[in-house]
Amino acid sequence: MAETKAIGVVGSGQMGSGIAQIAAVAGVDVWLHDSDAQALRRAKNSISSSLQRLIAKGHLSKEVGSDALRRLRFTSNLEDFRSADVIIEAIVESEDVKKKLFSQLDRIAKASAILASNTSSISITRLASATMRPYQVIGMHFMNPVPTMKLVEIIRGADTSDETFVAVKTLSERLGKTVICSQDYPGFIINRILMPMINEAFFTLYTGVATKEDIDAGMKLGTNQPMGPLELADFIGLDVCLSIMKVLYAGLGDSKYAPCPLLVQYVDAGRLGKKRGIGVYTYGKPPEVVKPSPRL
Ligand code: CAA
Repeated sequence: MAETKAIGVVGSGQMGSGIAQIAAVAGVDVWLHDSDAQALRRAKNSISSSLQRLIAKGHLSKEVGSDALRRLRFTSNLEDFRSADVIIEAIVESEDVKKKLFSQLDRIAKASAILASNTSSISITRLASATMRPYQVIGMHFMNPVPTMKLVEIIRGADTSDETFVAVKTLSERLGKTVICSQDYPGFIINRILMPMINEAFFTLYTGVATKEDIDAGMKLGTNQPMGPLELADFIGLDVCLSIMKVLYAGLGDSKYAPCPLLVQYVDAGRLGKKRGIGVYTYGKPPEVVKPSPRL
């Protein structure tokens, strides 16, 4: 199998930008796509300042940093992905939206290209069914923050070929990651275990067993985790946690996966975590409460 020379990344949010950054640093040519021009500009700035930070800390040479910036191209046109060897999707966690994108990519990408999804829990087999190349569709699940976390969870759909698996494993290792392999069942490995823990932390708070601070301090200091589960939920995004719990509940049909009502309520209230300035905790200045206008 030929070496991966060029990749396309769809979605320039935190995950997509992180993937684009580490691939460019590893010497791969990267197209980063977003339909939102403003999001692309933000991604460009954040990658550039992240590379500068790494250079300042002595983790990266100036030469590698500038070479990485040269390898990165930003686009709002998916047609630019025609020459990519691997395309990694990192867009919103919606099966319908992802399927639409996969079917579009299937038409645009060259015949040998691999289509990978960074989904945290959606079935790879179902995403593959939106294409004519199910044997070249695979899950490539990075962890947040991508440049720091050492893992890529690779998920094989029902029809993913050995050749596709080996190519993606080789690419992940070239990006400096350790690979684990999961079969295509709800939540795969990481979220099958992580999300019920986070959900249970919400139940522990909801039922008044302890304060949020004690739950987090307990798990941080008592089980040596870098963040407590509630702090981690805010970091991941409460909407993302809830959507993964729903996938586990629907896909495995066991009441032990039922989302905690408090998690549901926070999401309903728009308390989505760090990205919104409020989740379980409040970050920076609390967001302004919009008061309903008086009835006339
Ligand atoms: N982007 C890039 N790099 C980042 C970063 C970010 N957002 N945040 C921190 N880093 C880097 C820092 O630059 C620093 O690098 P060096 O050691 O090379 O200097 C390193 O990470 C440590 O950062 P800090 O010293 O600032 O802070 P910290 O020691 O508190 O670590 C953390 C921050 C890495 C986020 C750590 O708290 C941690 O590991 N938390 C748990 C993260 C986790 O579990 N992620 C997985 C979530 S699950 C997921 O992603 C999958 C899913 O489907 C939901």
